[in-house]
This record gives sequence, structure tokens and C-alpha cells, in this order.
Amino acid sequence: METAITWAPGRFGGVTDYLPWREAMAAALYGPGGFYRDPAGPAAHFRTSVHASALFAEALLQLAERERLRTVVDIGAGRGELLTALHELDPRLRLLGVEVAERPAELPEAISWRRTMPGGLTALVIANEWLDNVPIDVVEVDPHGVPRLVLVHPETGEEILGPEPTAEDVDWLQQWWPAAAGQRAEVGRGRDEAWAALVSGLGAGSLAVAIDYGHDLETRPAGGTLTGFRWGRQVAPIPDGSCDLTAHVAFDSVVAAARLAGATSIRLTTQRAALADLGLTGGRPALDRARTDPRSYVAELAHASEIGELRDPDGLGGFSWLMARR
Ligand SMILES: C[S@@+](CC[C@H](N)C(=O)[O-])C[C@H]1O[C@@H](n2cnc3c(N)ncnc32)[C@H](O)[C@@H]1O
Repeated sequence: METAITWAPGRFGGVTDYLPWREAMAAALYGPGGFYRDPAGPAAHFRTSVHASALFAEALLQLAERERLRTVVDIGAGRGELLTALHELDPRLRLLGVEVAERPAELPEAISWRRTMPGGLTALVIANEWLDNVPIDVVEVDPHGVPRLVLVHPETGEEILGPEPTAEDVDWLQQWWPAAAGQRAEVGRGRDEAWAALVSGLGAGSLAVAIDYGHDLETRPAGGTLTGFRWGRQVAPIPDGSCDLTAHVAFDSVVAAARLAGATSIRLTTQRAALADLGLTGGRPALDRARTDPRSYVAELAHASEIGELRDPDGLGGFSWLMARR
């Protein structure tokens, strides 16, 4: 699960400085001075379910209890926000953050922190908005119908067409993201491999949950989804380390990879449905309570609006939950 970072300008037919997106993204996010090394952490730049409400952690605690799993691993743990919330809810849980960034200074001592996933653990493994940050290559089909790697300049974001992708990537594209002349596609092979490595390394009885925005063969966007985020705003994806770089996840290919990796059962659902299943439904409190019991009315209203945000079908509720049992 270590991200291999290579930096070899000038390899592409004498063109200097341009890199395939996968390499540019790996260096910009995780290399020295990379975006995710910044102590500010992801929460300074965008809002995930973890930041939206403590109810998200409560739902995951429900899931751990339902599965009778006492160890929870957070892959791509950010600054440990989810683990800290889980620790507060149940200090007896064994908690581990797997994260490229350094251990946050304020993290409770009881929470373990590592750069890589240890093998053979039996655990509930949560990967919230991790796969969308696993580097991808971008391919554009040229006017002759030939797929070409898109190369990007790491400082300006300028793109040029490079060589043909590898045979493995061409196979992946044919199966999962067929594209016509002029269209772009994002090669999710590295994500399939990352998820397969995670699932195959788990001990029996584990449940791994990938939560992210994504698409499938029927909903693939022809132009791709690669974009940037900085300080709460969507920005052009320039791989200079100054912004997040993210692309939606091809969930159907990740599901197939999990099957091959030995998942014993797989469920793909929406966050909206998964949270309802874990008891997070909740409507607005009756209006007359505002007069009869204003304090609890306000508390219940806040609770309902947090659930509403987590389950919004046009927002976080529309995210996919891929649950792979091992
Ligand atoms: C979008 S943030 C999500 C943070 C947190 N899970 C949340 O939901 O708020 C993605 C995180 O994954 C981490 N990450 C990406 N690739 C990783 C890898 N191979 N191993 C460990 N952490 C990784 C990044 O450093 C970053 O903190």
C-alpha cells in the first residue's frame, strides 16, 4: 500500500518535465512537499462525512458492533478525526490509523498510527474518500482512434498527448472504460490493485468498507472527473502540491478486483441506504414542539439536519459504500 513515487522528467521522447498523470498525482499528493503532507490536513480544504457530523462515527460504531469486530482501521485517516470520535464513543475499541501523513500531535495515545496496513488483522476497515485519491492515469483517444497517455506539466497543469498506455492499461480500458476518438478516460487499475491488496491481506472475519463518489459502466462521464480542491473551492487540477487531486472511483472494477482478491461476499449500496440500515433515518421534529419544548426541539432539529446532510442523495448520501467481507 506504499505509494511508489518516481520522478523522471524527460523520458517521453525528449519532452522534458511532462509526466503521466499517475506519477504527477503521486508526487503532488504524497511526495516531499506534497498536498497531504501539509499539517493543515484535508479538513482545511474539503468536507467529508467525518467532518460533517459525529453521527457518521456513531453509525460506524453500530456497524462494528453488529459485525462483532473490536478493531477498527481507518485507511487514509486524515488527521485521525474519525478514530478520535470512535475513541470518545467507545474507549475500549482497538483503533489504528493508516496514513501517509505524520501522526497528529493531538491524537489520543490509545490510537495507533502507521504508514502501511499490517497483514492478517481481523478488523472493520473503513476507507472514507481514500480510493478517489489513489493516483490514476488519464488517457485520451486521438483522432486516429489510438489511446494515448495524457502527460501533464507539474507546475502549469498544461497537458500534451504522450505514448500509448501499457498493455495492462489498454485491457483495463477495454473492459471498464471504452472511449471513442476525442474522449478521455481515467485508468482505475491502481485503485483495483490497492483495494485487492487490502482485502487479500485481511484476516478472516474482517469487513472492509470503501466509501466514495464514483460511477459504473453505465454512468462513466465521457470527459473524465479529475479535478482539484483547495481551501473549500473546486480548482483546476494542477499537480504542483498546492491542491487536492481527486477523480471519481470506477466502483464496478473495484468490486471485480475484490472478488478476485478473495472477498467472500460483496455489497455495493449508497451511503443513504447504508446509514438507514444502521439506524440513521430521522425526520424533522413536529413543529408544535418548538412551543412546548423549545430546547429539545432545537437539539432534534440539529440532529435531523446532520442526518439530512449525511443522507442527501445529491451529496454525501449519493456516495457508494462497497462492503467486502473476508
Ligand atoms: C480525502 S482524504 C480523507 C481523509 C479521511 N478519511 C476523511 O474522510 O476525512 C484522503 C487521505 O488518504 C491518505 N492516503 C492516500 N493514500 C494513502 C496510502 N496509500 N496510504 C495511507 N494513506 C493514504 C491521504 O494522505 C489523506 O489523508
